[in-house]
Amino acid sequence: MRIVIIGAGAMGSIFGAMLSSTSDVVLVDPLERHIAAIAENGLTVEGAGGTREIFRLHGTTDPDTLAPDFDLAVVFTKSPDTRDAVAEAKSLLKPAGMALTLQNGLGNLDEIVRVLGPARALVGVTSHGGTMIGPGHVRHAGKGPTFIAGASPETRGVAEVVAAFRDAGIDTARTEDPDTLIWGKLVINVGINSLAAILRVPNGVLAATPACEILMAQAVAEAVAVAERLKIALPYGDPLAHVKEVCRKTAENRASMLQDILRGARTEVGVINGAIVDKGAALGVATPCNQFLSEMIAALEATADHRIE
Ligand code: PAF
Repeated sequence: MRIVIIGAGAMGSIFGAMLSSTSDVVLVDPLERHIAAIAENGLTVEGAGGTREIFRLHGTTDPDTLAPDFDLAVVFTKSPDTRDAVAEAKSLLKPAGMALTLQNGLGNLDEIVRVLGPARALVGVTSHGGTMIGPGHVRHAGKGPTFIAGASPETRGVAEVVAAFRDAGIDTARTEDPDTLIWGKLVINVGINSLAAILRVPNGVLAATPACEILMAQAVAEAVAVAERLKIALPYGDPLAHVKEVCRKTAENRASMLQDILRGARTEVGVINGAIVDKGAALGVATPCNQFLSEMIAALEATADHRIE
């Protein structure tokens, strides 16, 4: 399968490396020094146990240099860049090629459906964790299952994509309900990401600190209330217990929103806590904790240049 990864940050690079063992993979990312380092020295993937593997991958900052002959585009950009990434995917795919989002937050699959239609749109969630160490160098911080669903019953090629992931050694299963998949991950991100970014702590601290749990419980309860109003079933029984379990399993991880805040980048708060606020407002569900967390992150982003370290 010919696969283009659009957005080769930590997670995009790690999936690109894994998929390259059995597929023909190209990375597309605007970060010149990362792409140049990969061209010169290969992509170094550091494992959790200190292992190091170098992958020879083709990468480019300019998707216009690539032929439109890809079977699959995996969208791994930050969500504010999804619209551009999906437009790029469209121009790089074969006429029947598919696009898969493995991003955090609400609205990414909708964008693929809008541009390519439901028959070519896939969504997935993954428990792999990654951190960018430097140009051409990522840490594969944690491994876990990946789940993939088609946007609708008429989506073609889900089985082929799942098979391509599994052939590359990625523990992947197909699920049938995209909303359950998306909201299952969204509730986790609602409970973890903005709190980790505001408090500047790794995920494990959130579950081990009662004062954090009070806020986490409130943010999660609001997200669950919105999901219930939308009649979306979550893939686990006790959402707060599940979010705390994810914190424990990814205890050493810096949540992606914390990584964004630390490098002064835009965060995904708008499609995580902000999405709960927007949906809650439309449905008449109160979401004061998610509103507060969204506003705190917006204030953190806006004051980055004045921070006293
Ligand atoms: O965004 C993230 O960092 C991850 O989705 C998660 C699961 C919160 C682990 O850090």
